[in-house]
Amino acid sequence: MNFALIGLGRVGRVHAANIASHPQANLHTIADPRAPQLEELARWYGASLTTEPETVFADPGVDAVVISSPTTTHIDYLQAAAQSGKAALCEKPMGIDIDRVERCLRLLEDLPIPVMIGFHRRHDPSYAALRDSVRAGAIGRLEQVMVHVRDPAPPTLEYVRVSGGVFRDSVIHYFDLLRWLTGEDPVSVSAFGSCLIDPGIGLEGDYDTTLVNLRLPSGALCHIASSRRSVEGADARIEVFGSEGVLRVANAPINLLEPPVAGIRYIGFPTRFEEAFRNELNSFIEAVSTSSSPVPGPEDGRRSLIIADAATSSALNSNAVDIRY
Ligand SMILES: NC(=O)c1ccc[n+]([C@@H]2O[C@H](COP(=O)([O-])OP(=O)(O)OC[C@H]3O[C@@H](n4cnc5c(N)ncnc54)[C@H](O)[C@@H]3O)[C@@H](O)[C@H]2O)c1
Repeated sequence: MNFALIGLGRVGRVHAANIASHPQANLHTIADPRAPQLEELARWYGASLTTEPETVFADPGVDAVVISSPTTTHIDYLQAAAQSGKAALCEKPMGIDIDRVERCLRLLEDLPIPVMIGFHRRHDPSYAALRDSVRAGAIGRLEQVMVHVRDPAPPTLEYVRVSGGVFRDSVIHYFDLLRWLTGEDPVSVSAFGSCLIDPGIGLEGDYDTTLVNLRLPSGALCHIASSRRSVEGADARIEVFGSEGVLRVANAPINLLEPPVAGIRYIGFPTRFEEAFRNELNSFIEAVSTSSSPVPGPEDGRRSLIIADAATSSALNSNAVDIRY
């Protein structure tokens, strides 16, 4: 399968390496306005390079696109993929404007193509084992889900400016994961946000520190604590608590030294989730090759954005918000 990669930034590099090493994939083209600075990388991957992402959609040699450009460009490229009949693996969030996302879903009904949304954490083996155990009844009736999602360091303000805000950009991973883990769509959210780390993030109208509480239709409750900074390293813990017990996914230690020395204790996200990113690409290629619908798909992108919009509104207005899909 010949891939065009649109946007070779932080996450684009993860996808590029995975495509280049996948036995059924070929990195055909890299499209990025910064192309002149990326020549060495493109040569390394044996890919051609263009500053004009639009051209990949007209190229009959390209079968599929990975959209890893800034969030504000995702919908335009998804629409171009539909119009040119190319399969698309689109980074999260699918978009930041729910009206545009819903219009894109309607276009995809008329011009169906395989689309996967890049919620790679669904493909993490530890989270998948947690889900299997919960679904198999290991903790009895689910009552609470507790999540910590803390990045080692804040993103650049340039990134923040086009990210859609922390709920749509970062916490959204766990809105999606909560739906996938429990099989339920939350019906109510109450969120708080503060800016305690980088005043520049506050000046952009965003938060770097948040707490979110969600209620599921079954009555089970979820709490997600997020931060744009974690001096101990990436924090991605989940605990599920039920009538018969409790299960946890812990952080991955950077080494096995006991007790840990001061400083970074946990491995960063690209390493913590490297298997998840590889599994994600595998799952996408398998779905496209077998003409089945990739999962998570556009409807998952829409639903997670609706939750993120509700959390954003709750934090801004200091009230609980009912969520309607
Ligand atoms: N799945 C994850 O865990 C994860 C992690 C980080 C980022 N992301 C998502 O991936 C996307 C990119 O994030 P990033 O951190 O790699 O950003 P980044 O800023 O590091 O990289 C973006 C790249 O896109 C290029 N670009 C800019 N405008 C473009 C355009 N119009 N068309 C094509 N390319 C363009 C830039 O030159 C840059 O190389 C965002 O939507 C973000 O939400 C997902």
